[in-house]
Amino acid sequence: WAALAPLIFAINKVKKERNAVILAHNYMTPDIFHGVADIVGDSLQLAKEAAKTEAQVIVQCGVHFMAETSKILSPEKTVLIPDMDAGCSLAESITGEDVRKLREANPGVPIITYVNTSADVKAECDICCTSSNAVQVVEAMGTDKVLLIPDQYLAANVNNQTDVDVLTYAGSCEVHERFTAEELRDYRAIDPDVKIIAHPECPPEVVAEADFAGSTSHMIDWVKDNSPEKVMMITECSMADNVAASTPGVNYIRPCNLCPHMKRITLTKILDCLLDMSGEVIVDESVADRARASVERMINLKN
Ligand code: 13P
Ligand code: SF4
Repeated sequence: WAALAPLIFAINKVKKERNAVILAHNYMTPDIFHGVADIVGDSLQLAKEAAKTEAQVIVQCGVHFMAETSKILSPEKTVLIPDMDAGCSLAESITGEDVRKLREANPGVPIITYVNTSADVKAECDICCTSSNAVQVVEAMGTDKVLLIPDQYLAANVNNQTDVDVLTYAGSCEVHERFTAEELRDYRAIDPDVKIIAHPECPPEVVAEADFAGSTSHMIDWVKDNSPEKVMMITECSMADNVAASTPGVNYIRPCNLCPHMKRITLTKILDCLLDMSGEVIVDESVADRARASVERMINLKN
């Protein structure tokens, strides 16, 4: 941390001069999460913050679809991402054209898109959802059947929690699909007292072995509310690092998978983009208008 202090100081200084706000996803490394972020959270929280911030510049520390969502919700703001190549296997699994074909093949079925998609895909869908509100959004459609795309595992997990028939697509998260039910059973056999909490992008048989499943922020809240002696977070590696600082009595057992896309965001790149105002995210206006309708429908759903 001492070696990082000058960088952290420089970022916080330029951030003020630029009237910028740094929105950081829970998967950012602790130097970003604790050192320079103004707001941290899961995808839904960051989308809501992007919609209401008064700063002129948003620096999105996360992956590209998150920066696009901020731009869609704040078209008058400058949205910067420190590395343009920070992608997501889910966002890359489907295009707007694929959604048009799905609509033709499933007339009358509402199409819900996970927030981990491009603006093009959001523009073709009826409403957006995140891992923290997917069941609520599915049930709000008021139909017997919905399409929840593109994450086949999130959809299968939601399907297990509702009477609505949840159809899906073939996308998956390259980080969460690698966890297996067998490895979770092995961890429990070694340490029966450990609490296991998982992200719903994991396959359903993995979620079935967990004590709790929820969005990244819901996982953090679960640890804070339950203060387990030992916990295993079945998700991206930075989660345990970030929450450990605010839960001193909890012992984190750390099998985890790194998201190579999230890990492209570094302090050096954040400073560079703030200094040069580089990495600006632009969304075509006609696409942005239709994508905004999907995201706003989600944000405006009553709890
Ligand atoms: P959350 O909305 O739960 O933060 O998930 C985003 C994500 O990309 C998880 O892999
Ligand atoms: Fe995408 Fe998975 Fe990385 Fe999240 S963890 S950004 S879903 S690849």
